Amino acid sequence: MHGLINRKNCKISIFYFSGTGNTAWAVNKLAEKLQHYYGNVQLISCESEYDMMTEVEDSDIIGIAFPTHSSLAPRLCQDFIKALPKSSCKPLIALTTAGYMAGDVLWHSLKSLKEKGYLPQVFCNITIGNNMHLPILSPLRVTRPNKLTKRLNKAEKKVDKMVHTITEGALLIEGIKPLGRLLGVIQRCIARQFKSIAFKGFSSDGKCNGCGWCVKHCPVHNIQPDTKGVKILDQCMLCMRCYNYCPNHAIQMTKRTKNIKKYKRYKGPEGKYINDHISH
Ligand SMILES: Cc1cc2nc3c(=O)[nH]c(=O)nc-3n(C[C@H](O)[C@H](O)[C@H](O)COP(=O)(O)O)c2cc1C
Repeated sequence: MHGLINRKNCKISIFYFSGTGNTAWAVNKLAEKLQHYYGNVQLISCESEYDMMTEVEDSDIIGIAFPTHSSLAPRLCQDFIKALPKSSCKPLIALTTAGYMAGDVLWHSLKSLKEKGYLPQVFCNITIGNNMHLPILSPLRVTRPNKLTKRLNKAEKKVDKMVHTITEGALLIEGIKPLGRLLGVIQRCIARQFKSIAFKGFSSDGKCNGCGWCVKHCPVHNIQPDTKGVKILDQCMLCMRCYNYCPNHAIQMTKRTKNIKKYKRYKGPEGKYINDHISH
């Protein structure tokens, strides 16, 4: 494939979204490692301001990274994928992070890009940690910090595998085997059926002191300052950032999540917020 591109003159742009830090951690590792081989590797947060047309035209390889949300890309990334311009045979690399299993999310979300002329080259699923414990429907807890070290070691090996495959110009597409496809179909179906039962939206409680962290960091500007603290609007894409990182644990999914011992908040691979982009 692109093995013939002169690596020193090659520009790779990786567009990414990360709600709670897992994908940010993975793309930072990927970019750091690719930089040893390629002349110009840049990370672009989908939340930042950038000129998509210019960035894509100027790049020899395009990368896309996002978390798995019930075997779908988060809404912000779906919009980004739809808006990508046509290409003539640009290699496409992609990664998704998941709490357990990503299924066919990359293939499902990015297949439209083949029609636009991109060449899928490396699509990898990376398991890091679960950032959501739904009181209703899912008994699955968020991943505890003591489990993360092992997971991150494995995740880094997966990133190494990606880098090796990219530099070799070889092909590696995960999630297209029948089992991955089936898992994806089942997860999307369950999510569609039960979304309105399982999640009624976030609310802020009496612990909110109006610090504005969530207002500043909500990727879709869905939270506004209010006399009572904050007001949460109806365009949430369930990235879990406000809920997990509120300094006062004042954002709730239901009354039950006030019990922060049971419903622990997920603090990402570094135990703190690492997505360095600020949306406002
Ligand atoms: C709405 C939602 C749906 C999710 N669905 C899945 C899923 O289907 N499979 C899975 O393994 N993890 C799932 N997760 C966990 C995330 O994919 C995982 O924690 C991801 O690494 C978070 O990345 P981020 O920190 O970059 O946002 C889901 C998380 C959310 C918030």
